Amino acid sequence: ISLKPHNSFGIDVKATYFAEIFTENDLKELFQNHLVKSQKILIIGGGSNVLFTEDYDGLIIKISIKGIESQTEGQNVYVKAGAGEVWNDFVNYCVEHGFAGVENLSLIPGTVGASPIQNIGAYGVELKDVFESCTAFEIRTGEIKTFSFADCQFGYRESIFKGKLKGQYIITSVTFRLSSVPKINTSYGAIETELQKRGIENPDIADVSAAVSHIRVSKLPDPSTIGNAGSFFKNPVIEKHEFADIVGKHPDVVHYPTADDKIKLAAGWLIEQCGWKGKIVGETGTWKNQALVLVNHGNATGAEVYHFSELIIDSVKSTFGVTLEREVNIL
Ligand code: EPU
Repeated sequence: ISLKPHNSFGIDVKATYFAEIFTENDLKELFQNHLVKSQKILIIGGGSNVLFTEDYDGLIIKISIKGIESQTEGQNVYVKAGAGEVWNDFVNYCVEHGFAGVENLSLIPGTVGASPIQNIGAYGVELKDVFESCTAFEIRTGEIKTFSFADCQFGYRESIFKGKLKGQYIITSVTFRLSSVPKINTSYGAIETELQKRGIENPDIADVSAAVSHIRVSKLPDPSTIGNAGSFFKNPVIEKHEFADIVGKHPDVVHYPTADDKIKLAAGWLIEQCGWKGKIVGETGTWKNQALVLVNHGNATGAEVYHFSELIIDSVKSTFGVTLEREVNIL
């Protein structure tokens, strides 16, 4: 089966086996099959955070478990969504129902089930800010387990599912703790600017969602026409003394303080400074409006995109002494 429709980079590779899962029971049945137990396995949702560099010699399991239900307790609204719900459909559902908390995360590609794995975040909010719990299928035992906020060990684009428990669990649902009383977060400057342009002084969650969607569409390439996986690298977090060296040589370096007293640099800025913004090399390159996003201009191979990312890493390393780490999963 061709994986081209199943990865947002639009890379044309094949998988030996492919299964689509609609219920937790489908998962149990699938893993009772001995053939499955001997396979290399990859779980995908929307396929929006992977780069395939070769054919996948194993079983790809696409999670399409649907359903959204909510329960109100005082101001809190607990919304449970199936792992296969498209993330932005879920956000729209919440905005329409007046459930506040995820409006800043509008238009992020991918599915609900993938959201805790790398603690998705944008425009001043991270998944962990609204995460209550999730359920996951344990591959070894076939049991469904519940993970609390503390269990997940969230960090910047990190969780236990990417770390210690990698490859052991398949997330089947996520429960969010949202609110019927919005806490509007426009701390991210571009949202404020967009709302001002629209003449909105007291935004509601629908206004914030619309502003964020507009910013994303204007900056980021639409994966349905130009293959990409969002930010290709993480924003590097460095120690203060390392930062002192960099800012000495590059006074305008874009940076933010972190909660743990370190400094986060804007990788897009570093890449742009090295002259890569909007560069096209063969069928790949960086996006003209956001250098942190690598794109497939049509017929790129995964290996070609990967090789291009190596050039960027080398170049940023030699200019700034900073090693960029990929955010996208390389396969
Ligand atoms: N910048 C440049 N040149 C560029 C790109 C960015 O100078 O080519 C500068 C911008 O001017 C700005 C700063 O870098 O001052 C930050 O840029 P931006 O606001 O576009 O955000 P980002 O740090 O590049 C992160 C997330 C995005 C998220 C945005 C908005 C990561 C790896 N990426 O990008 O998440 O949408 O913030 O909050 O943390 C993703 O993870 O796939 C993703 C798209």
